Amino acid sequence: MKRIAINTGGGDAPGLNAVIRAVVLSAARRGWEVYGIRDGFNGILHTENFPDGGIVRLTQDRVRGITHLGGTILGTTNRGNPLRYPVRQADGTFTEVDRSGEILDALKRIGIEAFIAIGGDGSLSIAHALARKGGLRVIGVPKTIDNDLDKTIVTFGFETAVEFATVCLDRLHSTAESHHRVMVVEVMGRYAGWIALNAGVAGSADAILIPEIPYDLTSVVRKLREREAQGRTSSIVVVAEGATPRGGGRTVIEKKVGRAERLGGVGEKVARELEEMSGKETRVVVLGHLLRGGSPTPEDRLLALRFGAAAVRAIDEGQDGVMVALDPPTVRYVPLEEATRRMKTVPLDCDTILTGRDLGICFGD
Ligand code: F6P
Repeated sequence: MKRIAINTGGGDAPGLNAVIRAVVLSAARRGWEVYGIRDGFNGILHTENFPDGGIVRLTQDRVRGITHLGGTILGTTNRGNPLRYPVRQADGTFTEVDRSGEILDALKRIGIEAFIAIGGDGSLSIAHALARKGGLRVIGVPKTIDNDLDKTIVTFGFETAVEFATVCLDRLHSTAESHHRVMVVEVMGRYAGWIALNAGVAGSADAILIPEIPYDLTSVVRKLREREAQGRTSSIVVVAEGATPRGGGRTVIEKKVGRAERLGGVGEKVARELEEMSGKETRVVVLGHLLRGGSPTPEDRLLALRFGAAAVRAIDEGQDGVMVALDPPTVRYVPLEEATRRMKTVPLDCDTILTGRDLGICFGD
């Protein structure tokens, strides 16, 4: 009997539950048991917070009817990397300690032979480090609404986020037109502009500002003026949270020890400056965490189920230290080392940008 552990780490994304279900069912068919670690690795590092012990047996019954549910039944966290765990000192400063040994010991104690980590770049880098320590076979499953993971064509959660953002843009067109306003819509995506780009083009935005193309608002104002000259008195500007002005930095809400910086606020900044520069009444809408919620689209569910099943097949085939990745028409395995080496940002010559330019969309350059 093989025992597998599974966890979900980093920000949640629609499709996580579908992966969990696929792993549990695929494992059960092989006679294997699956155990879920709660809240990333907190189920091991902070057992005192979990009345159920922090590691729970996932039976087929436990995963019934969850494919369509957003979030994760295991819980997640994007704090406290166990390899560089922040510990507060008496003088108020922080020091970092490696707690990965505790994780490996805890899993060994209950006879876990393989571990499936579902996460983004941060969680998969941790998974890679655990794989290197040996003693546990590790398989990664790529997840993020941001779509910024390399070596997979796409991650689940991305399409659901783009679909929701596009529906929001559709709704904003009518109110923008009625009031002759500029609507600035800020979307998530961290340092990559995939959500802004895809939703912006699909949702007929007039300008799209992404981290990969530092913006100069004078070119956006020029676009607004051109539209006015054509009798179009409203405009939609999509701004990725990681967008930066030419020569300037990112807009950050918060930066704390042991956590990734929290981006946000660039939409407000762009709206204020655009109003000043263009004289047009401007409003801002921040979609934020709404993009992470909801039921995964059929495409995302399917991808998540395929990834979950492929992760179990990978264990069955003796794989270790790999990530399952979509390489149409198939799912293949790529070394975690390669997958976590760099972030996948939007190539400036990609077809969607070329399409946007052909449609007359302004990219702020
Ligand atoms: O990586 C997913 C993501 O939603 C990013 O798009 C965003 O910058 C970040 O997570 C937000 O994290 P938090 O949930 O900590 O606000």
